[in-house]
Amino acid sequence: MVKWKTKISDSTDEGTSVRGYSLEELVGKISYAEMVYLLLRGKLPTAEEGKMVDSILVSVAEHSIGTPSIMSARTAASGSGSFVQGLAAGILAIGEHHGGAGEGCAKVLQENLGKTAGDVVSAFSAKKERLPGYGHKVYTTDPRTHKLFKLAKELGIFGSYCNFALELEKELEKSQGKKLCLNVDGAIAAIISEMGFHWRVAKAFFVIPRTAGISAHVIEELTEEKPFAKRLESSEYEYTGERGKNLGK
Ligand SMILES: CC(C)(COP(=O)(O)OP(=O)(O)OC[C@H]1O[C@@H](n2cnc3c(N)ncnc32)[C@H](O)[C@@H]1OP(=O)(O)O)[C@@H](O)C(=O)NCCC(=O)NCCS
Repeated sequence: MVKWKTKISDSTDEGTSVRGYSLEELVGKISYAEMVYLLLRGKLPTAEEGKMVDSILVSVAEHSIGTPSIMSARTAASGSGSFVQGLAAGILAIGEHHGGAGEGCAKVLQENLGKTAGDVVSAFSAKKERLPGYGHKVYTTDPRTHKLFKLAKELGIFGSYCNFALELEKELEKSQGKKLCLNVDGAIAAIISEMGFHWRVAKAFFVIPRTAGISAHVIEELTEEKPFAKRLESSEYEYTGERGKNLGK
């Protein structure tokens, strides 16, 4: 029999330990942000890192009803009447184009630090691929990036990954002929890279906090809207298929 292995936690008759610390002792002593850091990184953060993670969690907890995750969550809640189904549907809409670009961006930063920003942007252009963590549906400058980088500087966390991310932003503007801002996913990717997180962890820093925002929307849908309230009226979509086909029988 091959045993499952984990270094994260253990639960026995004597209690539960998380990353070697007694869960009971952690309760009331560390913040939720510090707990997230402990779980994902395997060690407790410094005070500065804890504050940084807390700010990241706040920055992406909610954005607007018009995002794919919230639209999906509210639609699923409207149809199913279920909190968990609505929440799961919202999370499933998070990915490379919405909320999940941090993973690709952190990979780019961690694998290319030391190369010139121009070379990295040219390599993406040559493949006709978008650089993850840049551009936004609404913003030309993402205010959340500005705030998180300001805090990262104050907390002594801002360093070569953040600088590299900003150099890439400048090079992308040159190559595309228009500003494609370092968005919040990209900013978080740079900051967590500074704190030593593997790029694979990046999406967790969006999904964990956005779960709170999605939950609020699902609860609002379930308590303030009628069941099946989310549907499209015929004026809201366009049928582009054929009509009047004959079965020929
Ligand atoms: C966020 C995003 C989906 C917005 O897309 P959009 O509304 O089509 O963006 P815009 O209208 O401002 O710009 C479109 C043009 O800029 C280019 N562009 C946009 N983002 C780009 C990026 N990250 N890298 C390279 N080129 C990019 C597109 O190729 C497009 O050119 P085209 O019209 O010739 O195809 C897009 O910027 C993107 O895919 N970014 C990377 C993924 C990401 O970071 N997602 C998280 C968003 S918070």
